[in-house]
Amino acid sequence: MPENILRFLKEKDKFVSGARMSSELGISRTAVWKKIGILRRQGFIIKAVSSRGYKLIGSPDLSADEIASEVQGDFWKRIFVYESVDSTNEVAASLSIRHEIGSGTVIVADTQENGRGRLGREWISPPGVNIYMSIILKPDLEPRDATLLTVLASVACTAALRNTGGLPVTIKWPNDLLVSGKKVGGILTEVRSEPDKIRNAIIGIGINVNIEKNNFPSEIRSVATSVRAETGENFSRSGIIVRILKEFEKRYKLLKRTGRGRLLDEWRRFASTLGQNVRIAMGKEVVSGRAEDIDDEGMLLLRLRSGALKKISSGEITVLR
Ligand code: BTN
Repeated sequence: MPENILRFLKEKDKFVSGARMSSELGISRTAVWKKIGILRRQGFIIKAVSSRGYKLIGSPDLSADEIASEVQGDFWKRIFVYESVDSTNEVAASLSIRHEIGSGTVIVADTQENGRGRLGREWISPPGVNIYMSIILKPDLEPRDATLLTVLASVACTAALRNTGGLPVTIKWPNDLLVSGKKVGGILTEVRSEPDKIRNAIIGIGINVNIEKNNFPSEIRSVATSVRAETGENFSRSGIIVRILKEFEKRYKLLKRTGRGRLLDEWRRFASTLGQNVRIAMGKEVVSGRAEDIDDEGMLLLRLRSGALKKISSGEITVLR
């Protein structure tokens, strides 16, 4: 895998000879040379000097090998980066149905022809700027815990983005990632279940990263934002994906080890919705009240004017001023 060479070049951060890579990685000199070629074709800039060897001096902004070289271990199995897909959630669904694709596979695309948002909406997916990714998981969870996966993904993305230029991201229940009241990202979780077990879950994540404010379609310009629009800087998409995957893995393992308490507490700390008076549209039904808390399954607990507490599993929420 070229990611071994990449990891090696990154760790050394200086010229390394082909002979040394060949002996330390246990591959032939020809294999080293071929892998360097693959990395260069992917956009990595690798300088070669005849008496000194190879040195990595630049990386592309989105690369499967770059991501795989950073998320080592047992949790993340395979990373696929496509140039263009219909929707990464669709690719993930068909891969996990047609093949025995394992838990921990990640599908990323540079652009989506038919990116999907919640409630049947379109997810704007121009090329070269944003993150569109889907995580395939076969979690050992009951179907009623599916919402926990959205909670987990939104907490992981928030933590990752807070570490990216210090963005003050908050979560609007159930899955919107906001900065200054505007949407910087969203999550679309789709689950196939057996009666007592989730068979597989596809967690789709969209983050507006380097898109310029003026390049949002006019109809969403006032409600959408991007990491670049907020910080004035461009960020490597691979770098943000790596952070999201690491934050996700950490919390998933914690959830399995210690239960859902700490995850839900962290969600509460990041939430901008709790304590607010809100209106929630659930299809034709509209309810209003105070968003009091989320319960153990990630459902919103809404205190109605009558004083009764209503559990809401999904809907479109508007904060009332
Ligand atoms: C939302 O409406 O807030 C959810 C948006 C989810 C968008 C992501 S982009 C990657 C994945 N593929 C899709 O088609 N949708 C999700």
